[in-house]
Amino acid sequence: MRILIASSELFPYSKTGGLADMTAALAKYLARAGHEVHVFTPWYRCVREAFPETADLPAAGAVEIDIGGSPLIATVHRLDLGKRLAVWFVRHDPFFDREGLYDVHTPTGRAAYPDNFARFVFFSRAVVEAMRRLELAPAIVHAHDWQTGLIPLLIRHRGWYEFWEQVPRTVFTIHNLVFQGRAAAHQFALTGLPAYYFHHQACEFYGDVNLLKTGIVFADAVTTVSPRYAREITTPEFGAGLDGVLRARRRALSGILNGIDEDVWQTRANPHLPAAYDAGHLEGKAVCKAALQREMELPEAPQTPLFGTISRLEHQKGIDLILQAWELLADEPWQYVLLGSGDPRLEELARVAQQRWPDRFRFVQGRDEGLAHRIEAGADFYLMPSRYEPCGLNQMYSLRYGTVPIVHAVGGLDDAVVDEEDDPERATGIKFREPTAAALAAAIRRALELYAQPETLVAFRRRGMQADVGWRRAAREYVALYRRLLR
Ligand code: ADP
Ligand code: GLC
Repeated sequence: MRILIASSELFPYSKTGGLADMTAALAKYLARAGHEVHVFTPWYRCVREAFPETADLPAAGAVEIDIGGSPLIATVHRLDLGKRLAVWFVRHDPFFDREGLYDVHTPTGRAAYPDNFARFVFFSRAVVEAMRRLELAPAIVHAHDWQTGLIPLLIRHRGWYEFWEQVPRTVFTIHNLVFQGRAAAHQFALTGLPAYYFHHQACEFYGDVNLLKTGIVFADAVTTVSPRYAREITTPEFGAGLDGVLRARRRALSGILNGIDEDVWQTRANPHLPAAYDAGHLEGKAVCKAALQREMELPEAPQTPLFGTISRLEHQKGIDLILQAWELLADEPWQYVLLGSGDPRLEELARVAQQRWPDRFRFVQGRDEGLAHRIEAGADFYLMPSRYEPCGLNQMYSLRYGTVPIVHAVGGLDDAVVDEEDDPERATGIKFREPTAAALAAAIRRALELYAQPETLVAFRRRGMQADVGWRRAAREYVALYRRLLR
């Protein structure tokens, strides 16, 4: 099967969150399963800086997109990552050669680029145009999140009006319903589509254009990244205003839990880790813990349970609940490492916490891929109190690293982790049901009790490490979905 994937992020070239990991792994595992995969993604400044050789890729084609009256040129540059896997960088420097993917640093925090809507409408149109120009003729086009939400409609509209011999079937995956790509009505013109699509059963949403809604309405299949989130988003509580639209498409909607890229997230031969280990040989994990305590300048205490979190510091992730839980549990013997950046207020609160508990609380501000691995390996427990979580990857990295996840039972966190109270034989982590500091603190207390029972703790670690969280299963589920669409 020939599959085209369009994504605004692709690991290792560009990443702000799990979308990058997901699309890279999806592409790789589909190719491994024998399919021909073409991934389209923007050529950002960060790609040029980290992979300077990509600047020398010759242009395989150029397309002209008339966006709001001025034709702009996009060039596409092919990079082969294997026999069946090609990355197509879409290049238009005024839009993508910028400091951040979606936002820029300002004195008062990060600010979204005012032309994000135009940038990704342009990208989506360039993908469809290039796909035609290059005669790729994929059977499936799989778009991700609002940035590529226009693609299913572009394909459907043009396929009909231009009498394409074969109109690809489209899949649209929602990674986060909250980011919708909304813009004022007049910007609909940038899509180049007829005005009759600006309608409440199509692209219009409370008077604005909404690209996420467009993807949901026009894709042949809509998926999200866990079965539980697929159910949650059809309710007003989690639906971000689109629950009605999603209910109307219930028959096309399904949830497929992401996996982890087992080549990257593994403990046997990982260049980021000071020692190797696996479910049968856990000694190396203790070495990783001691090394992490040293690196973080925390007391090197094997007996003290070490907790970790790696996250965007945003309301979604419940970082404030962790900071409040510290107030409740300040007298307990535990250490904590937090790696992340985002909301300046949360960053400030984390710095204050570090000042108050200098021997036990460490906050590392920023992004650091290597440190993320060392935290996953060195910590005993991983805290993930997200208010909502479409899938979440770190709870699965934690399982694979033998680090017991403590999660709020929502979305993919609920799907990926088994609590002792639900099934003692299969338990891999600790869940709590209310997104409150008190409930999180109670879960941390359960973790401290578990830490005092080394044999039970080792059983938790082993089961987690042996759980099937790899991408092979997820890729099989996507292929089955693609096949259903093609029948
Ligand atoms: P989301 O996409 O909502 O941020 P996910 O759990 O799906 O959440 O994915 C987050 C990804 O980003 C993980 O791979 C995580 O390790 C990574 N990540 C988040 N913050 C940082 C950071 N400060 N440094 C390194 N990696 C980070
Ligand atoms: C989004 C979600 C996250 C998910 C990721 C990859 O960023 O917030 O839960 O794991 O996409 O699908």
